[in-house]
Amino acid sequence: MARVLITGGAGFIGSHAADALLAAGHEVRLLDNLSPQVHGSQRHRPLYLDKAAELVVGDITDALAIERALRGADMVLHLASSVGVGQSMYDIASYVRTNELGTAMLLEALSKRPVERLVVASSMSIYGEGLCRSADGSVVAPAERTIGQLRKGQWELRDDDGRPLEPLPTPESKQPTLSSIYALNKYAQERMCLIIAKAYGIPTVALRFFNVFGPHQALSNPYTGVLAIFAARLLNNRPPLVFEDGLQRRDFIHVTDVARACVLALESDRSDDVFNIGSGQSRTILSVAHDLARVMGRPGIAPEITGKYRAGDIRHCFADISKARDALGFEPRVGFEEGLDELAGYLADQIAEDRAEKATEELSQRGLVA
Ligand code: NAD
Ligand code: UD1
Repeated sequence: MARVLITGGAGFIGSHAADALLAAGHEVRLLDNLSPQVHGSQRHRPLYLDKAAELVVGDITDALAIERALRGADMVLHLASSVGVGQSMYDIASYVRTNELGTAMLLEALSKRPVERLVVASSMSIYGEGLCRSADGSVVAPAERTIGQLRKGQWELRDDDGRPLEPLPTPESKQPTLSSIYALNKYAQERMCLIIAKAYGIPTVALRFFNVFGPHQALSNPYTGVLAIFAARLLNNRPPLVFEDGLQRRDFIHVTDVARACVLALESDRSDDVFNIGSGQSRTILSVAHDLARVMGRPGIAPEITGKYRAGDIRHCFADISKARDALGFEPRVGFEEGLDELAGYLADQIAEDRAEKATEELSQRGLVA
C-alpha cells in the first residue's frame, strides 16, 4: 500500500486514477484548485470523486498548498494542467504559469522531500505530426503544415512531390515537434520531471497520453477534448462543429485504460523513461462525430464540416504502444465502440452548457481559427 498524491486529481483522468488506485489498495490524496473552467463557477467537490479520496483544494503554483498536500505521501501522480491546445495559443502566460511554473514548484518541493516514485502526464501533442510513410516506402517525420497550405484548405500531409503520406503508428523515439504552447508546456513538464528526478534519485516516468475519452470529462469546458465538446453540442441538439475536412485522425483511449496505465507506472520499477499510452488505433474526427450522434440517439444530427482550421492542430497522430506493452504490461481493454456506448449511458442524464461556438468565436477573433 502506498499513499499517492494526485495533482489535478479532481479532474477527468485524476478521478479515474483515484478510483483505480483505491481499488488497488492504495491511499489517495488529491491536490486540485477546482479550476472554474473545468468544475464550474461553484467549484464544488465533484460528485464523481470517491469519498475515500482526500481533497486538498489548492493551486499547483502555491508552495504551501503543495507542502500540505505532500505530507505523508509516498508517490506523486502529476496531472494538474491547463489542457486546451487552442486556448494555450492566446492564454499564454496562464498556460506557462500552471503547466511549467506549477511543475517547477512541485519539483522544488520534491527536491526537499523526495518521494518513492513520480509519474507525470505528458501528451501525444509533443510529437507534432505523427510518423508517416511516403510513396517510395520510406518512413518520414512530416513537417508542420504551413499557414499558406491551411488557408488554401490543403489539409492532407504530402511529400515534396505532392504525393500523399500514409500515417503510421508513432513510437516514443520520434523527435518532438512542438506546434502549440500546450505541447511546449507538456514537453517542459516531462523533461523537468525527468531531469530533477534523476538528480534527486526519484524514480520517474512520463506517460504520453493520446486522446482520452470517457465519463467525467468536463462537458461545459469548450477547450476540453473533442468528444466532450461534441457531446455537449449533441446534448443541446446542435451539430458537432468539425474543423478541416474531418478526416484528421486521432487515437482515442478509454479513461479507465489510462487510469490503469497510471497504476502500472506507479507500481513498476521502470524509471527515467517515457511511454505512449494510447489504443494503437486511429479514427477520423468525422467518424467519431457520426458515431457519437448515433450512440446518443441523435443519428439525424449530422456533423457540420466547417472547413476551418485551428492554429496549433496537427493532422494525424496515433500511438505505437509496444513499449508500454513490453515494459509496463499495459494493454488497452476497452474497445472504442464499447467505451462510446458506456459514455452515451453516462451522458443520458447530463446537462451541458454548449460553449463551443463562443470558444470558436474567441479563437477566430484572434485569428486562431480561420
Ligand atoms: P482536466 O481538466 O479534467 O483535469 C485537470 C485538473 O487539474 C482539473 O481538475 C483542474 O481543476 C486541475 N487544475 C488546473 N489548474 C490547476 C492548478 N493551477 N492547480 C491545481 N490544479 C489545477 O484534464 P484531464 O483530461 O484529466 O488531464 C489530466 C492530465 O492529463 C493533464 O496533465 C493533461 O495535460 C494530460 N493529458 C490529457 C489528455 C486528454 O485527452 N484528456 C491527453 C494527454 C494528456
Ligand atoms: C487532446 C487534449 C490534450 C492532449 C492531447 C493528447 C484536450 C483539450 N486536449 O489534444 O490535452 O494532450 O489530446 O492526445 O483534451 N476538433 C473539432 N471540433 C471541435 C474540437 C476539436 O473538429 O469542436 C478537432 C481538432 O481540430 C483536432 C481533433 O478534433 O483535429 C482533436 O482535438 P482535441 O480533442 O482538442 O485534441 P488534441 O488537440 O488532439
